[in-house]
Amino acid sequence: MKELIISSSFEVFESINELPSDLQSLMMEAIEIRKIAYAPYSNFRVGTAILLRNGKIILGSNQENAAYPSGLCAERVAIFQAGAIYPSVEIQAVAISAASDHNPTLQPIPPCGACRQSMHEYEAKQNQEIPVYFMGESGEVYKSKSISNLLPLSFDKKHL
Ligand code: THU
Repeated sequence: MKELIISSSFEVFESINELPSDLQSLMMEAIEIRKIAYAPYSNFRVGTAILLRNGKIILGSNQENAAYPSGLCAERVAIFQAGAIYPSVEIQAVAISAASDHNPTLQPIPPCGACRQSMHEYEAKQNQEIPVYFMGESGEVYKSKSISNLLPLSFDKKHL
């Protein structure tokens, strides 16, 4: 038996103001789109802004459904839209902000496992790391240098 150790590290920014200006603007877009998320059941709103290599910004928010599992997270709404509209343009960065209508989310809210898996597909496809910046409503912003840093030992096409 031997041990396999995989480690992840994150950069921690004290607030959105500490981000470089292009990422500050990207996060502001994630915050704005978050506010109009369709989240009548959880009242938990998530916004995602994706910066593409061609300068376009693709936005997404969580879209819930009375049949709960039919809803979709903000990250997947955004990344599938990017993949659908600009299939051959690289993704440069992803910004995510999440907030509850009921209590302040002051900690960075990480993307769920299914969204990590979905985003990982696009990182593998473009063979180029995608940095992810995520935060709550306010407070610290975490930066992951890539999706694979968020999803160690990930399953992808090389396993098929
Ligand atoms: N949600 C996201 O949009 N992204 C995540 O990564 C985690 C959860 C949404 C799904 C649901 O609409 C609400 O947040 C509560 O789980």
